[in-house]
Amino acid sequence: MKIVVIGGTGLIGSKTVANLRQGRHEVVAASPHTGVNTITGRGLKEAVSGAQMVIDLSNSPSLEDEPALEFFETSGHNLFAAEAAAGVRHHVALSIVNDDRNPEIGYYRAKVAQERLIENSGIPYTIIRSTQFLEFLGGIADVSADGNIVDFARPVPAHRGGRRCCHRRRRGTRGAAKRHP
Ligand SMILES: NC(=O)c1ccc[n+]([C@@H]2O[C@H](COP(=O)([O-])OP(=O)(O)OC[C@H]3O[C@@H](n4cnc5c(N)ncnc54)[C@H](OP(=O)(O)O)[C@@H]3O)[C@@H](O)[C@H]2O)c1
Repeated sequence: MKIVVIGGTGLIGSKTVANLRQGRHEVVAASPHTGVNTITGRGLKEAVSGAQMVIDLSNSPSLEDEPALEFFETSGHNLFAAEAAAGVRHHVALSIVNDDRNPEIGYYRAKVAQERLIENSGIPYTIIRSTQFLEFLGGIADVSADGNIVDFARPVPAHRGGRRCCHRRRRGTRGAAKRHP
């Protein structure tokens, strides 16, 4: 099976690609650094051609409210047009626990917009809602601290997120699901 990992060079994407390559699949790590850009469309059609599955682990270069929203909306539109044309059978994406319960956070609104595009794409999908990765512990503490108290959901190690994305790929062949790891 040909599997395209959009954002396959990123923190979670590179771990997912490494996991998938232990199997007998053709795995494409797609990102601007490998010549595939979901914003400009460069290399996208060629990358998804012949693919049965796309795992979207891309992220906006800017985490600010408006750029992040624009990234996920533009990327999603281009990605689903290419996936539909290529006959992709399943789309997997990594999202965030409780993103829809925190509309005051701009980046979470962008992730909800990404989820809506996925749900309306017409392509069978799995959305995995994860807590943040341990690798970001320092940054999470910085933005979540209120005096001496830091309040956040239990983070998970990035390598476990990579395994989850592969696991969903193996099990998630039809329908739609949102699951928390
Ligand atoms: N990190 C967390 O704690 C966490 C938790 C839950 C969910 N998530 C979600 O998981 C996803 C990945 O997060 P991450 O931390 O692994 O991100 P990351 O390390 O910042 O990696 C981002 C990836 O996106 C790629 N990318 C950027 N612009 C692109 C474009 N125009 N077209 C195609 N690919 C592009 C990058 O490619 P280049 O290397 O070529 O620039 C890179 O491979 C995000 O959607 C995030 O919301 C993350």
